[in-house]
Amino acid sequence: MRAIILLTFYFLTCNVSGQDVDSVTEDVQRLIKLCSYCTCSEIPDIDGTHLVLNILCSELDRIENVADLDKIQWPENLNGLKIAATFEGLGIVTLGKLPPNPQVETLRFSNNAIKTYWPDPFSDVPNLKRLSFTQNELMEITPDLFTKIDGLEELDLSYNKLTELNPLDFKSLQHVKRLNLQSNLLKKIPIEALEPMAVLEDLDLSKNAINDLLLRNTESEPFKVVKRLSLNGNRIRSVTKESFPPNNSIELLDLSNNVIEIVEEGAFLTCVNLRELNLAQNNITFNFALPSTLQIAIFRINTLYHWPTFPSGITYIDLSYNRLSDIYNENQVDFDNLEILNIGGNQIKDINIEKKLPKLFSLDISFNLIEEIPKCLNSQILPKLEELRLDGNPIEDVYFKNILALKNLYMNDMHKLITVKDKAFSNVIGRGDETTNERNCFFLYMSNCGSLSEIEEGAFDATSLCMIDISKNNLTQLSQNLLDWSSLTEGANLQYNPWHCSCQLQWVLDEVLPVLYKTNSRLLTELRCGSPRAYEGLRLVHWYNWTEQAMCSEMMRRSGPGGTYVLEPSTDSDSTSRVSSLTLILSVCIIIALLIAIALSVYLIKNRRRHRVRQAALKRKRQSASDVKNTNGTHGDQFAALNKT
Ligand SMILES: *[C@@H]1O[C@H](CO)[C@@H](O)[C@H](O)[C@H]1NC(C)=O
Ligand SMILES: *[C@@H]1O[C@H](CO)[C@@H](O)[C@H](O)[C@H]1NC(C)=O
Ligand SMILES: *[C@@H]1O[C@H](CO)[C@@H](O)[C@H](O)[C@H]1NC(C)=O
Ligand SMILES: *[C@@H]1O[C@H](CO)[C@@H](O)[C@H](O)[C@H]1NC(C)=O
Repeated sequence: MRAIILLTFYFLTCNVSGQDVDSVTEDVQRLIKLCSYCTCSEIPDIDGTHLVLNILCSELDRIENVADLDKIQWPENLNGLKIAATFEGLGIVTLGKLPPNPQVETLRFSNNAIKTYWPDPFSDVPNLKRLSFTQNELMEITPDLFTKIDGLEELDLSYNKLTELNPLDFKSLQHVKRLNLQSNLLKKIPIEALEPMAVLEDLDLSKNAINDLLLRNTESEPFKVVKRLSLNGNRIRSVTKESFPPNNSIELLDLSNNVIEIVEEGAFLTCVNLRELNLAQNNITFNFALPSTLQIAIFRINTLYHWPTFPSGITYIDLSYNRLSDIYNENQVDFDNLEILNIGGNQIKDINIEKKLPKLFSLDISFNLIEEIPKCLNSQILPKLEELRLDGNPIEDVYFKNILALKNLYMNDMHKLITVKDKAFSNVIGRGDETTNERNCFFLYMSNCGSLSEIEEGAFDATSLCMIDISKNNLTQLSQNLLDWSSLTEGANLQYNPWHCSCQLQWVLDEVLPVLYKTNSRLLTELRCGSPRAYEGLRLVHWYNWTEQAMCSEMMRRSGPGGTYVLEPSTDSDSTSRVSSLTLILSVCIIIALLIAIALSVYLIKNRRRHRVRQAALKRKRQSASDVKNTNGTHGDQFAALNKT
């Protein structure tokens, strides 16, 4: 290929005969058939409505020669399918004008280095609907990039270097529904440029450098029709009454990851269709009014001291990592539709709820200042609860006072917990699926509680677990009667505890280990002994399939003072295979060491003899100091020569 192009060049420069030039150029054009270099296949379109002829040219295909794509030849397409073509990672810097084809519907130039383009590159593919320039080097665009593709519906300009857009840039793009300008360098919202996009629904302006959110005083149509607007990761400082046009269509608004400190009281009330508002990771301290249509409120990681007033349709509240010190005022809220409530990472001491939350299925009150399990955590107040997170609270004594049905219970990182007492979980019951006849059991996660050293035998009396995770605690022993180990369908994670490997834990080898080995072997990787000294760090799986009671063996039963088990090195004939294999390894080591020693001494003796002969020769010849150096070491030949003389 390269040769042909070089040849072309040669003809163009050296050959004066026009005819020859033409025929060679034609050859070149005919040769760049896309399907001979790229992957062509007939697949359903993204939305699954029709079949398309999909052309995928990626860095794996050797098509460097199509550099700016003006010499490509579209495939024959006998079935008259729409064409979707992707030119990905080919290092294209300049985009050429694409050859005519009315079937082309989708074009993607992702991950190239496109900086410039020929005028009107798409004017011969007039039915283009989707166009992507994601991950290129575009610094500006001009109106002639989009000539004659008035039907375009989707435009992706994300991950480029656009600093601003000019009012006429999109002037012919009146049918665009989705525009992605994420991760550019825009300093303000390009209001004028967006004006022609009268049916725009999705606008992504996230990860730019936008300072101001001022959309009201514009005649710009788009901001009345946009339904989903993302401004995540910009530098917006405030939201005011001027921010949005009155009676706008925004349903989903993402303002997370900005530096918003001020939100004017009525700022969002112009958003009469707002369903989801994301203000996570800002610096909002004071509350503001929320539109009555709001269903999802994500206010995570701010500095709110008080609960906002949520409308009655609210289903999802995330107020985690704020400065709340109280639960909401029950007389002022209607949480009948609330399904998910996350208030983790606040400074709440008491959770006292008396009014039923009929639809709540997930409650997160982790990392607060709760010292005992709140009374209100019961199935009368929380009839639909499936998931409860209590992690990281300073709870010393676990005890569920009332019946609570759950699927998942999280109690990790409880650093004040030392002992889990009798009946602690007796009132927690599993929540089976009502439709299928599932067994009623729950998953318990109680990991990384550094002081937890005892779980009393009756802790799970009258309840049933599907899985227990008590890894990363300070447990040394565990009662076989704690629960019905064979009914744990999802296993038991006992790893990272300093287990005391004595006869009392033999049942783990007998009962738990074989099941885990077959169904959840990853839970055995870090299941190790912490004591006695001789077994410290040894994995319990070491004893898998031993016929005798490994942990109760003769060697281990040799009890030391105070009734503790100590391991003494034993030379008894009935010593375990661990000791005998150690002996074997030791003797092999000694034999190898002896052999090495013998070999070494033989070598040394030989070497010394040689050295002596050499010294004699040297004396005889009285060579200079440099010669002494030369004869030193491996120069045997030279040495021999010296000897002869
Ligand atoms: C608000 O917009 C809707 C259509 O989105 C329209 O039906 C309604 O009349 C408008 N209300 C006002 C007060 O402009
Ligand atoms: C947030 O606001 C507080 C004062 O209200 C200020 O000290 C802090 O620096 C602000 N943080 C950011 C990231 O702007
Ligand atoms: C873990 O338990 C041991 C005694 O078994 C105790 O000495 C140690 O302090 C405990 N560690 C923590 C973090 O409580
Ligand atoms: C464990 O023992 C059983 C029968 O006693 C045997 O079938 C199985 O292969 C053994 N597994 C291993 C890993 O030794």
